[in-house]
Order: sequence, then structure tokens, then C-alpha cells
Amino acid sequence: MTDSRTPFSAQLRIGVSGLGYLGATHAVCMATLGYRVVGYDVDEGKVQALSRGILPFYEPGLPELLREMQATGRLSFTSDLDDVAEFADVHFVCVGTPQARDSDAADLTYVDAAFTALAQRISRRALLVGKSTVPVGTAERLTALVAEHALAPAEVELAWNPEFLREGFAVEDTLNPDRLVFGVASEWAERQLRGVYAPMLERGTPLVVADLATAELVKVAANAFLATKISFVNAMAEVCEAAAADVGLLARALSYDERIGGRFLKPGLGFGGGCLPKDIRAFSHRAEELGVGKAVGFLREVDEINLRRRARMVDLIREAAGGDLRGVRVAGLGAAFKPDSDDVRDAPALDVARMLYLEGADVRIYDPQANENAHRVYPDLEYVSSLAEAAAGADVVALLTEWREFVDADPGELGDLVAQRRIVDGRRVLDAGRYRAAGWEYSSLGGAVTTRVAADVRRAG
Ligand code: UDX
Repeated sequence: MTDSRTPFSAQLRIGVSGLGYLGATHAVCMATLGYRVVGYDVDEGKVQALSRGILPFYEPGLPELLREMQATGRLSFTSDLDDVAEFADVHFVCVGTPQARDSDAADLTYVDAAFTALAQRISRRALLVGKSTVPVGTAERLTALVAEHALAPAEVELAWNPEFLREGFAVEDTLNPDRLVFGVASEWAERQLRGVYAPMLERGTPLVVADLATAELVKVAANAFLATKISFVNAMAEVCEAAAADVGLLARALSYDERIGGRFLKPGLGFGGGCLPKDIRAFSHRAEELGVGKAVGFLREVDEINLRRRARMVDLIREAAGGDLRGVRVAGLGAAFKPDSDDVRDAPALDVARMLYLEGADVRIYDPQANENAHRVYPDLEYVSSLAEAAAGADVVALLTEWREFVDADPGELGDLVAQRRIVDGRRVLDAGRYRAAGWEYSSLGGAVTTRVAADVRRAG
């Protein structure tokens, strides 16, 4: 048996194709491990921004690290693929796999183009590693595609190494992952990846070495599980609303069972973002193609439960407004799909704002980071630059994304700005007792929160 432990080598040269969220983070983090890294993107604007030390998206901690790594001389960016092709020993492909325009399938145009373009240019020994989230079977198809187009077919090999990073924790998740998954077709490929990740493996990070298909599936299965957990608790929220029970207390009681656990069991407006929604749809689609659609049929339900939360939020805001949204001024607090992000892809907050607008409400949206991106998607909605401006004269305040600024807002001070003290808490993060004490009509997605304060007191006692 060959020794699969490959010592760490700072000589290793890394290429990263695709400098979006995943790729830019990966390139910077690889440079922190001591490697020389060249990042490539077809988008000249992105390359220029990164070359000037500017990150084209919001991610806490990453801009500082980007500039620090550039100063070492180990990290650079280019829009010339020839520069990368001959440079790197290991190429990470991090391009996007958005939902196709006309179906639930993943659009693999960018992945296919990235692998083909690299294969056409590489004339040296190199490993091409996919990190993008793809339908199972893609790596096998790409292996054939690469062989067909390669300048030097015997020199290039393909592997899959899924990435589990969360926005807002991108650096931490990349440098301290809870596990590594290598999908490989040879011992050589495994050795290359062990070399790249040697610093993490030496710290005891769990590693699963698998075939290509399993590695691809791990990522979609993980996201499907997380989405299911969120929709499970949101399904319980629907039941709680009908039964006048409190889903917050229910979720807490469930969370003490270690087999269930409390993470991703937060009821509210549900999941959005560039991953979970499109990944569960693409997974269903792929399973149907494989003839096992029934096995993941529940994911359609997971998606529907998630979307129903948005409609239910609109119902609650309408009820708070007295039954008709026409001409009602609503303060929309939040647009990003989650706090500490400027990402509005499939954002529940923005979807709710859009539905309110379509019913004739006068919605004013404020998000600490995502206003600009939201404006690009829905230019007809009105965006303001502070919480105070959003609240001024509002008939109903709708909490849509749980930014700290909103959670910490003072109910008394906020009450002085609005026309009517009515608030609907779409994320169940506000202190209902304080709001009610300050004269607010408080309601929340998922039913009563009246018992929460008393229960917390009993627990503390
Ligand atoms: C997710 C996965 O967590 C990550 O492993 C994968 O690599 C990419 O997709 P991300 O999209 O950054 O990461 O967001 P995440 O923090 O997982 O949150 C997803 C959504 O679920 C957010 O809209 C969040 O508001 C929502 N959510 C999360 C809930 O509604 N309830 C919860 O309990 C947890």
C-alpha cells in the first residue's frame, strides 16, 4: 500500500477558477496556508476589483485577509486563463451552478465551460478539482468531457471536493471545516488533495475519501437535510398557529433531545439564499432523472412549506393592518436572506416585500448591507438608508431578516417614529414582552409567544 500521508508542501501551486463567493474565499484561504495562488475569472470587473483588494460582496473578515495575502505576494488574480493553466498543480473549479431558467435542474453551462477551457490549455501534470455543487453524475460526465478536449489527456485528472461554507462564516468554515470530503478516482488524486489540506488533516479534521459520485451527493444530501430540518419546524409552526400553541417553546423542548439538536430548528420565515432552495430543487430533478424521484419526493413538500411561510407572513401583516394592505405603510426590516450577508438570492424578506407591494402596500425597506443588491432585483420597491427612515410613519413594522440592529432596537424609541405601534416578527427574535409593555400590538409567525417570558423565568429559577 502506498503511504497516503503526503507532507505539507508550501511549493504547491494552486489555481482557482471562478471568483464568486466560494472561489474568492477559497483563493484567499489557500494563500493563508502558504501556497502560491492565482485566481481566475472571466469577469474582468471582478478580477480588477479583487486585484485592488476590493471584495465584490459582503463577508466579515475576508477583505482584511484578502489584502493581507496580496501583500505577501502569494495571491494574485487574472482574467487570462493561460496564466493559470501552466501555473497550477491543483486547480479548484468554483463556478456557479444556478437554477436553470426553464426548469428545476442546475444550469451546468459554467462548470462545463470551466473544465473544458482548462483541459484545452493544460500541458503539464495537474489535478482538476470541482468544488461547485452539482447533480450526481456530473464529475463522471466531466471526466469524459475533459478527456475529449484535453491538450494532454494523460496529464490531467479530475476529483471532487465539495465545500460546505456558510455565508457570514466563510473564512472560519473554509479554514476550520468540520469535515473534508475527497471524491477521487486514483491514489495520486487522493495524495494531491491530502497535500493541499495537510494543515487541516494534521489538526485531526475528519476526512471521508470516496468515489466521485458519493462526494457529489454528500453536498446535496447535507443541504437537503438542513432544508428539511428548517421546514420540519416550520410545519410545526403551522400546526402551532392552528392550535394556539407556541412553536418557539416546542422547538426548544425538542432541541434538548441530543438526537434532534437545536441547530437549524429555528422557526420563522424560512430558508433562502443561493444554495438551499436551488439545491433541493436540482436534487429532486436529478433523482427523477435517475428514476428515484419518489425517494426524495418529500423535498417538494419541504420547498412548499418554506414558500408557504412567506405567504403566511403577508397574511399576518394584512391582519395587523386591519384586513387590507392598499395604501398601508409598511416598514420592511431586512432584505438579505439572512443577517450578516448582502445576498438577496431567493431571499424570503424580499419576496414578502414584493408580495406586499403587489397588494398595494407602501413598503419601505431597510437592510444594513443588502439595499443595493435588492434594488438591482426589484427596482420598483422603495429602499431607505436607516431603520428610523423605514419606521417613520409606518402603520405596520415587519421584521423580515434578523439583523442585530433590529433585534436590539428599543421598542419605546421605535414607537415614537411609527404611526401605529404594530409589529409582526417574522423571525421570532424580538422580546414580545418588551414590545407589548411599550404599547405595541405584537404578533409573530408560528403562533403565540405569550408564554415565553414566563417559561424563561421558570427555567432561570
Ligand atoms: C448553506 C449551508 O449551511 C452550507 O453548508 C452550504 O455550503 C451552503 O448553503 P448559507 O446559504 O450560507 O449556507 O446559509 P445558512 O446559514 O445555512 O442559512 C440558510 C437559510 O436558512 C437562511 O435563509 C436562514 O435564515 C435559514 N434558517 C437557518 C432558518 O430559517 N432557520 C434555521 O434554524 C436556520
